Amino acid sequence: MRPVLAIETSCDETAAAVLDGDGVVLAEAVLSQRDHAAFGGVVPEIAARAHLAHLPGMVAEVMARAGLGFDGLEAVAASSGPGLIGGLIVGSGFAKGVAMARGIRFLGINHLEAHALTARLTHGIAFPYLLLLVSGGHCQCLAIEGVGQYRRLGGTIDDAVGEAFDKVGKLLGLGWPGGPAVERLAASGDPARFALPRPLLGRAGCDFSFSGLKTAVAHLVAAYPAGPLPAQDAADIARAFQDAVAAVMADRARHALAMVPAARTLVVAGGVAANTAIRLALEKVAGAAGLDFVAPPLRLCGDNAVMVAWAAIERLRLGVSNSLDQAPRPRWPLDGADMRVPAAPTA
Ligand code: KG4
Ligand code: ZN
Repeated sequence: MRPVLAIETSCDETAAAVLDGDGVVLAEAVLSQRDHAAFGGVVPEIAARAHLAHLPGMVAEVMARAGLGFDGLEAVAASSGPGLIGGLIVGSGFAKGVAMARGIRFLGINHLEAHALTARLTHGIAFPYLLLLVSGGHCQCLAIEGVGQYRRLGGTIDDAVGEAFDKVGKLLGLGWPGGPAVERLAASGDPARFALPRPLLGRAGCDFSFSGLKTAVAHLVAAYPAGPLPAQDAADIARAFQDAVAAVMADRARHALAMVPAARTLVVAGGVAANTAIRLALEKVAGAAGLDFVAPPLRLCGDNAVMVAWAAIERLRLGVSNSLDQAPRPRWPLDGADMRVPAAPTA
């Protein structure tokens, strides 16, 4: 199989990558848009315009670094949902343009599938495995049983876990995104100072809930006079919050493992997988159950185009590509019938 070009524009990362047919990365680039920090969150219209501004140059750059012209490609793929529709239209429109102009195949990849299959690129793991997908926009637990065979075991009933980190970051007066800043602050926090709720801990299934925890942090913060919190108090709150999240995630993962006894590996992906305390908590759960624990390298945990190219390669190997009529979708559940691949392998 010749190389595949892939594009990722579903949220606030503009990314492009070229992989050869075996999944070797020939070139990759990611631009995390900083323009949203002033607004305290991603502004969809700004994101779409920034994708439009950066994508053509970035694609030219990765193609040049890969030493390829478009005619040397097997296919071109783009994240086509779920995500912010403006960015999805930019990315999939660009990919379709290349595919049409050069007569090569197009794949509109489900962004969640790209996260889900990354561990097969980085660690070559076999199906079935368990995936905790935890980011600013996603918070779900999935049984990954084959390409296109995804069973949703549970998910958040309110906020995504990364969103909770971002909101707590805001409450503590930290910059955006809050996750990395909360983790840094928590490192100097006293774990015994504050006790915060652990939503759904011990409850059957593997749903998540974070809004009550976030509200508990808001109440703690509201007890202080207006203005910046004393530094140690902020650190203690950050630590209590992070410990509560790690405990909840470990508990939910334990339940999920019991729901898929055939799984041999627990995989964590998404931006929140960058959090060391959470990784360690999950690693412990996997170890106790005799399972391997895999967290892809950080650059492949957050949004990137390498994972999109890899998902495309997995699909191309099964003879799947998409029509140029395929429309990008802001919502696109992984367990829908449209994800299915004829005769997908289960090993
Ligand atoms: O996967 P990602 O780059 O983008 C999507 O949301 O799709 O994830 C970003 C999210 C943000 O909410 C950010 O605060 C969170 O991941 N995050 C973290 C850490 N690094 C990033 N949360 C906790 N601890 C971290 N070290
Ligand atoms: Zn993502």
